[in-house]
Amino acid sequence: MTEERLMDKIIDVCLRRGFISPAAEIYGGVGGFYEYGPLGTLMMQKIIDLWRQIFVLDDDRVYEIAGSVLLPESVFQASGHLDSFEDPQVQCKSCKSMFRADEIISDAVNIKAEGLPLEELDKIVEDNNIKCQKCQGDLDKAKQFNLMFKAEVGSTGGINAYLRPETAQNIFINFKRLAGFMRNKLPFGIAQVGSAFRNEISPRNFILRVREFQQMEIEMFYDPDKENEHEHYEEIREIEVNLVTREMQEKGWTKPLKITIEEGLEKKHIPNQYMAFFMAMETEMLKVLGIPEDVFWFRHMQDHEAPHYSAGNYDLEVDLSIGHMEIIGNALRTDYDLQKHAKASGTSYEIVADNKKIVPHVAEPSLGVGRILYAILEKCYQDDGRGWTWFKFPSTIAPLEVAVFPLMKKDGLAEYAYDLHHDLKDAGYLSFYDVSGKIGKRYARADEIGIPYCVTIDYDSLKEGSVTIRDRDTMKQIRVPVEDLEVVIGELSEGEAKFEEFGDFLP
Ligand code: ATP
Ligand code: GLY
Repeated sequence: MTEERLMDKIIDVCLRRGFISPAAEIYGGVGGFYEYGPLGTLMMQKIIDLWRQIFVLDDDRVYEIAGSVLLPESVFQASGHLDSFEDPQVQCKSCKSMFRADEIISDAVNIKAEGLPLEELDKIVEDNNIKCQKCQGDLDKAKQFNLMFKAEVGSTGGINAYLRPETAQNIFINFKRLAGFMRNKLPFGIAQVGSAFRNEISPRNFILRVREFQQMEIEMFYDPDKENEHEHYEEIREIEVNLVTREMQEKGWTKPLKITIEEGLEKKHIPNQYMAFFMAMETEMLKVLGIPEDVFWFRHMQDHEAPHYSAGNYDLEVDLSIGHMEIIGNALRTDYDLQKHAKASGTSYEIVADNKKIVPHVAEPSLGVGRILYAILEKCYQDDGRGWTWFKFPSTIAPLEVAVFPLMKKDGLAEYAYDLHHDLKDAGYLSFYDVSGKIGKRYARADEIGIPYCVTIDYDSLKEGSVTIRDRDTMKQIRVPVEDLEVVIGELSEGEAKFEEFGDFLP
């Protein structure tokens, strides 16, 4: 019997416990669309909140907007997406299944084929005798397929529009007004979080390759003559990041290079301080979210792999059970998009900077919420023989931060526990109240969804005003006065104190 894949175990918990499930599931669903349930939504919101805090609210020069998801054809004509936003597909001659050509190649022979011309893809398929993944039939020649979803607007149609394949375009087409809002002074950044849509050829791997997903993006506009004058450089200079340079890829790499931002810039492994800032802060953000830094790195993409608008991509890849996966794309978009939209629309996108007129350059971090969430699920998943699986989520990302259980329903224990649960909610904790089943079962249920601390109310709580706290990671318990509970949970959640500092372990 083959061992169940880690991804399948995670999918099983996600379906059963209200994290994520297929959209329109009762009608059989449709590939590449998922819905986030109560716990998935809480986690998604926490990822977005943390990103917003780090990248938007902490920076006086960055503001967030909310743009339209459906945009007219002219936008994508100018941006180059109509012509170039495509992936190569191959069809099975027998069963007619469609596959993304570079993916079926990397699955079969582990060659990185993203961005290669069609003829080269055909040659790899032929030379390696790659067959259909479903029926082993022969594959037809590769063809390009545009990934955008098309729509017609209005009752009589005629106005072609597309669902945005990235949130970025709203920002470029609104640039004049946004620059005006920022008093036409560089640098400034415009952030956006929202849905993006891509008609992926073969959606797969749960929420990793889907057709509708949430992106968190920033377009950071700067004067290219001042690309190494980032306001916060001193704060990130010494942060270490993992890098995979192009040279390392050519030689065949096994371990990323660990390097400070400063050294990366000096050695020209990182193109400028704007990109460096994003790479440093993304590293910090993922660590806070429970993804250890030894499992991710920034790979300098080869020219042929980078998107049509990019003069260099530094993608953050994570080592997952299904292979290496990009979860964040960092692109040096230069003035590509602004120039294209200025020309196509006849709008001037010039800004006066240091007495010269320039069209600003752009550094863009593009973070996929779903891919980050999946990486967290995988890196926090534990199956260590306790009899049930559990997630080792840090409180920063745990969908629920504390659970409150009365030992019994009777004798006023339930009322006491329920009030305490609401006190914790009022204090800002995501608290969960559970009264049903044996206490051991309740602990197991809480572990399975990664609740870090369980508070139990027993008869001593009524007598002495103390409660027990159970630590998910060690399964150890301590007893604390109820009036200290909020502070104790707060310090534990923030990582300011260790569990054992608050009391002796109970037998
Ligand atoms: P891939 O090479 O895996 O198709 P990409 O290079 O097309 O990814 P980008 O265009 O750089 O990805 O998009 C930026 C981010 O948006 C990605 O890092 C990822 O987190 C997210 N993303 C892109 N496509 C998808 C998708 N189909 N499903 C889920 N997330 C996606
Ligand atoms: N905005 C980058 C991307 O989605 O490709």
